Amino acid sequence: MSEKYYITTPIYYPSGKFHIGTAYTTTLANTIKKYRQMRGYDAYLLTGLDEHGQKIQDVAISRGKTPQDHVDEMADVAKKLWAKMKIDYDDFIRTTDKRHEKIVEQIFEKFMKNGDIYKGEYEGWYCVPCETYFTPTQLVDGKCPDCGREVKKMKEEAYFFNMKKYQDRLIKFYEENPNFIEPAFRKNELFNNFIKPGLEDLCVTRTTFDWGIKVKGDEKHVIYVWLDALTNYITALGYMSDDETKFNKYWPADLQIVGKDIIRFHGIYWPIFLMALDLPMPKKLFAHGWIMMKDGKMSKSKGNVIYPETLIERYGLDATKYFLLKELSVGQDGLFTPEGFVERFNSDLCNDLGNLLNRTIGMINKYFKGEIPSKPQNLTDLDIELENFVNNKIEHVEKEMDEVHVSNSLEEIWQIISRTNKYIDETMPWILYKEEKVEELKNVMYHLVENLRKIAILIRPYMEETSPKMFNQLGMSDTELMTWDSMKEYPEYKNNLRVVEKGEPLFIRLDLDEEIEFLKNEMNK
Ligand code: ME8
Ligand code: MG
Repeated sequence: MSEKYYITTPIYYPSGKFHIGTAYTTTLANTIKKYRQMRGYDAYLLTGLDEHGQKIQDVAISRGKTPQDHVDEMADVAKKLWAKMKIDYDDFIRTTDKRHEKIVEQIFEKFMKNGDIYKGEYEGWYCVPCETYFTPTQLVDGKCPDCGREVKKMKEEAYFFNMKKYQDRLIKFYEENPNFIEPAFRKNELFNNFIKPGLEDLCVTRTTFDWGIKVKGDEKHVIYVWLDALTNYITALGYMSDDETKFNKYWPADLQIVGKDIIRFHGIYWPIFLMALDLPMPKKLFAHGWIMMKDGKMSKSKGNVIYPETLIERYGLDATKYFLLKELSVGQDGLFTPEGFVERFNSDLCNDLGNLLNRTIGMINKYFKGEIPSKPQNLTDLDIELENFVNNKIEHVEKEMDEVHVSNSLEEIWQIISRTNKYIDETMPWILYKEEKVEELKNVMYHLVENLRKIAILIRPYMEETSPKMFNQLGMSDTELMTWDSMKEYPEYKNNLRVVEKGEPLFIRLDLDEEIEFLKNEMNK
């Protein structure tokens, strides 16, 4: 039986159209899933929506809808986007699912019974029009920081989670598992600034709105969205339900992907909730950075928002995914600019990858009437060097992917592409042809095809549409030539393989000015 690998994305707020940041998180998770599958894992990907809370209730009201109608619509929008992006999720959890709500109620009860949640009083400065509590330090000149009006000191009954009780255990957990959060600098930030100074008990109910899961037997209290939301990772697997098969199989998660803005919830509250439930910790929390625009964060009012649909429809899914996955290097922010997008498309995809395939197909047609030469008997020093280079790079790709360093892994793959392009310049097949050095020419063609075959395998987790196109042009349909393990050797091709007569370009060169204008217009819509 193959080893399991459970991956989660955050569950997104269905407050508006999903932008490219959300698409990034999900694509990253999907890419890791595809990679793990190719490595023989039973990979399971969970995504979904975080549908409760004041914010969602407000958006629904402003649209003249009930919250339920609003979130139902948004769930369709999300599923359509994931279909368009070929996201291969195994389950889609919504916090309004009965299967989820029921278990959250039970979890809350369990926390009460064990003394982790207690009833107390919440005291703070309350702004009535905004229906929000503030701490004294949040106030601006003693007034509401949002609307500037008077606030009043108020007290109300509320439930609290006893975080302090778990403080020492959490510190010990981090000390014993220094690699729990990747990248390390994010862990250090969290640990030094939020965990070491001491935790405060967390208010886990609200009475100011009612779109949420109610506390059983005390229905005016609604369970805090983050307690509700975080548990999705286990309720989706059937934890505490009649059928815990999936839970027993997949928990603990192997990889939980989150954006840098929500590490605090996943790095403090979530582990503590799990401790309180006596459940094992996830193996890794990977925090990615943000896609930024030149003028900072994406926002509608700045006119700098770009939607994934726009890019996919105009440039294709693979080019869109490639850009995102490449641009955000390990945990850092990345930048979306029209110039950057178009330049990367033209150089990495058209020039480097597309041309390598095109040139190779062209040469095999010209020199060998389309027939791929068989594996050469004698290797030159250059071939041996090339093969070693590629084998070594494949190991690097694996190492980077095992650590969720997706951008780095693409970098390694593109080094194989560059090296192979350089191999053409070094061997000068057109001279070999002119001088009728047939054996040498065969040797070169075999190595070009073989490297392209490996590249097609390597890019599959990231670029699922391009990879089969490459195999198709190389005349390969035997799935044995497409497995990850098949890269470990330079095989003898079983059948006499033929490349296509004329290869369609994988990517068509973009006109820089035209596309920049197009993208700028889209961003101002
Ligand atoms: O936080 N670049 O949901 P959310 C990259 N419901 N990633 C971005 C981004 C950007 N510009 N903007 C947002 C929530 N994200 C909660 C999660 S999980 C139990 C509950 C990422 O819809 C962001 O970092 O506000 C986060 O990981 C994700 O999108 C969801 O954000
Ligand atoms: Mg957010």
